[in-house]
Amino acid sequence: MNEKKYYITTPIYYPSGKLHIGHAYCTVATDAMARYKRLCGYDVMFLTGTDEHGQKIEDKAREAGVTPQQFVDDIVAAPGGVLDLWKLMNISYDRFIRTTDGYHVQAIQRIFKQMYDKGDIYKGAYKGKYCKPCESFWTESQLKDGKCPDCGREVMDAEEEAYFFRASKYAGRVRDLLLNTDFLEPKSRVHEMVNNFIDCEGGLQDLCVSRTSFTWGVPVDFDPGHVVYVWLDALFNYMTALGYQNGQYGDVERFWPADAHFVGKEIVRFHAIYWPAFLMSMELPLPKKVYGHGWLNFNGDKMSKSKGNVVDPHLLSERYGVDALRFFLLRSFPFGSDGNFTNELLIQTINNDLANDLGNLVSRTTAMAEKYFGGVLPEARQADPALDGSLISLASGLRGRYEEQMEKFQFQNALEETFKVIQRANKYIDENAPWALAKDMEANGARLACVLYNLLEAVRVCTVLLTPFMPGSSEKIFAQIGASADAQTWDSAAQWGALPSGVSVSKGENLFPRIDMEKELSELDAIMEEARKDALPELEVEPFIEEHVDFDTFCKSDFRAVKVKSCENVRKSDKLLKFILDDGTGTDRQILSGIAMYYKPEELVGKTLVAIVNLPPRKMMGRESQGMLISAVHTEKGEEVLHLLMVDDAIPAGAKLC
Ligand code: MSP
Repeated sequence: MNEKKYYITTPIYYPSGKLHIGHAYCTVATDAMARYKRLCGYDVMFLTGTDEHGQKIEDKAREAGVTPQQFVDDIVAAPGGVLDLWKLMNISYDRFIRTTDGYHVQAIQRIFKQMYDKGDIYKGAYKGKYCKPCESFWTESQLKDGKCPDCGREVMDAEEEAYFFRASKYAGRVRDLLLNTDFLEPKSRVHEMVNNFIDCEGGLQDLCVSRTSFTWGVPVDFDPGHVVYVWLDALFNYMTALGYQNGQYGDVERFWPADAHFVGKEIVRFHAIYWPAFLMSMELPLPKKVYGHGWLNFNGDKMSKSKGNVVDPHLLSERYGVDALRFFLLRSFPFGSDGNFTNELLIQTINNDLANDLGNLVSRTTAMAEKYFGGVLPEARQADPALDGSLISLASGLRGRYEEQMEKFQFQNALEETFKVIQRANKYIDENAPWALAKDMEANGARLACVLYNLLEAVRVCTVLLTPFMPGSSEKIFAQIGASADAQTWDSAAQWGALPSGVSVSKGENLFPRIDMEKELSELDAIMEEARKDALPELEVEPFIEEHVDFDTFCKSDFRAVKVKSCENVRKSDKLLKFILDDGTGTDRQILSGIAMYYKPEELVGKTLVAIVNLPPRKMMGRESQGMLISAVHTEKGEEVLHLLMVDDAIPAGAKLC
C-alpha cells in the first residue's frame, strides 16, 4: 500500500443560491493541491460537499414554496447546480458529502450524544444575538458597531432553551495549539483568533449547539424539538465522510487526521477554535493544518448577490475556457490575502501569460519543429554550455523551486517560477534565431535540432508542473510535443532530457487565443449590467409616510380632471413638456411637467389627466406652470418608472376628484 497519503478538504458550501467565483476560488486551489500531491505520488483523498441544514435554507425553501430537501436538491444536483459546476471546472474530488446524507445525520446524532454523556454538552438557556445569514451567535461584546462582526448585517435578539458545548474547558489547549504550533496559517490569522475569541473579556465562551426555533437540521434524538447547530453538524463532515461513526466508508484509519483544511478567512474561527475543541472532546487527533485564504472582491467591493456584482464562473469558463479561469485565479492573487478581481486583470493575465508567453512558446516551437524537421527531431543534440546553459539550468532547477512554494500553498509563486522559465525560453528563441540557422541546414542542422530540443524540453518541464493548474491544456501540450506518459511524471520534471529524440511533434490548435481587450470589456460590462438589474428586486414601493395629514388640510387640495388640448417639448429642456389643458372653466390652463423622458407629446393629446390646480403658480424655464399633473411612480429593476394618472374619457374636464 502507498505509504504517502494526503487528505485535503474544501469547506462544504451552503446551497442557498448559485455559487460564484469566490466559491470556485477555494475549490480550484484545493484541486490544484490535490492534483499536485497525486503528481508527487501520494494517495490523495480530496473531499468537498454541501452544508445543507439551517434556518437560512428553511426560510429560502419556504419563500420558494418547496420543502427544504427539494430546495437543496435543486441547487446541488439539478443541471447548472453545484455538481455541474465542479464538473465544468474539472474539479477532481474523490468524495462529495451532503450533510443531508443519512449516514452523516446518524453519525452527528451519535457524536452529539457522546459529547452530552461525557458532560461536554449541557442544557441551558441561550440569550444573546444571532446573525441569521451567517447562522452565528454572538455576545454583545463581540458585535462590531452593534452588527455582525463577520458580515456587518443586523443581528437579532435570541433567547431559547438550548444545549451548550463546553468550549471554555478546552480554551487553554486550543490557545496553545494556535500559538505554539503551525496548525493555523497564515500566521497573521493566529493573533486575531487568540485575541478576539480566547484572550478576550470573559475568555472563550461556551458555544450554543442546538436550536428550537426551526426544524431543518439534524434532530437531537434524545430531546425532540432541538436540532443540532449547523456548525457542529457541518464541521464533522470532514470525519463522517471518511466513515467516522458510520458504516458508509472505512477510511478513517487511512486518512485521518487531515493534512489540510482550506477555508475562507471568515470561517477560520470555526475551524481554528471550535473544530479542534470538538475533536479534543471526542479525543480524536487534530488536523495538521487549517489554511485561511483571503477573499476575492470585485472591483474593490465585496461580492454579493444583492449588489449584483457576483462573478459567474459558468460565464467566464464558457468565454475563455476552464483552464484559463483556473489559472487566472491562482496566478493573480496570493492565496493568503484578499484579491481584487477585475475583468481587465483577467483579460490581461490571459493575454500576457497564456497567449503571449506560454501559447506563443508552444506554437513557435512546435511550428518550427514541423517546418524544419517534418515534426521529428534528429538525434544530434549536443548542448553548448555557453549558448544553452542558462536555459537548461533554470529549467532543471524549476521543480525544486516550485515544490518549495507548493508545499507552502503559495500557488502564485509556484506559477511565477514556472513562468520565469517560459519567458527565458522565449528569449532563447530570439537569441538563437532558429529561422537564421535554418537558412543553411547542412551547416547548422545539428545546432538547430539542439535548439529545438532544448525548447521542447523546457516546454515539457513547465507543462508537467502546470498540470495541477491547467490539466486539460497540459494534456494538449503533451500531445503536441510528443511527450509520452513517462515524460509527464513528477520525476521527469527534474530530469533534463527525459523527452526521447525522434518523438513526433505537431503544431495543434492555438490553445490560448488573444482577446481583444476593449471589445471584451464592453461585452462583459453589458452582461454584468444585465445581471445587476436581474438581481434587483422586481418592484420597489416607496415607504409610506407615517405622519398623518388632517382631513381639512387634505380637503384644501383641489384635484381636477383636465383634458390635454396640446402638448409640446419645451425648447432647450430635455425634461419639460408644456401642456395646454381644458380645465372646464373655458380658460386654458398651462402646466409644465418634467416627464419628457417618459412620454412623447403627441401620445398625450386628447387624454384626460389629473391635476392639482390650486398650487401657487410657478415659473419653469421662463414659463408659468399653473398646477401639477399627478403621476404614479415606482422603481422597477432599479429604474424609476412613471405613469401619468389618466381617467376615463367619460369624466368631463373640470370634474372635481375627492
Ligand atoms: N457552509 C460553510 C462552510 C462549512 S465548512 C464545515 C460556508 N459555506 S459558504 O458557501 O458560505 O462558503 C464556502 C466558502 O466560500 C468559504 O470558505 C468562504 O470563505 C468562501 N467564499 C465565499 N465568498 C468568497 C469570496 N468572495 N472569495 C473567496 N472565498 C469566498 O461558509
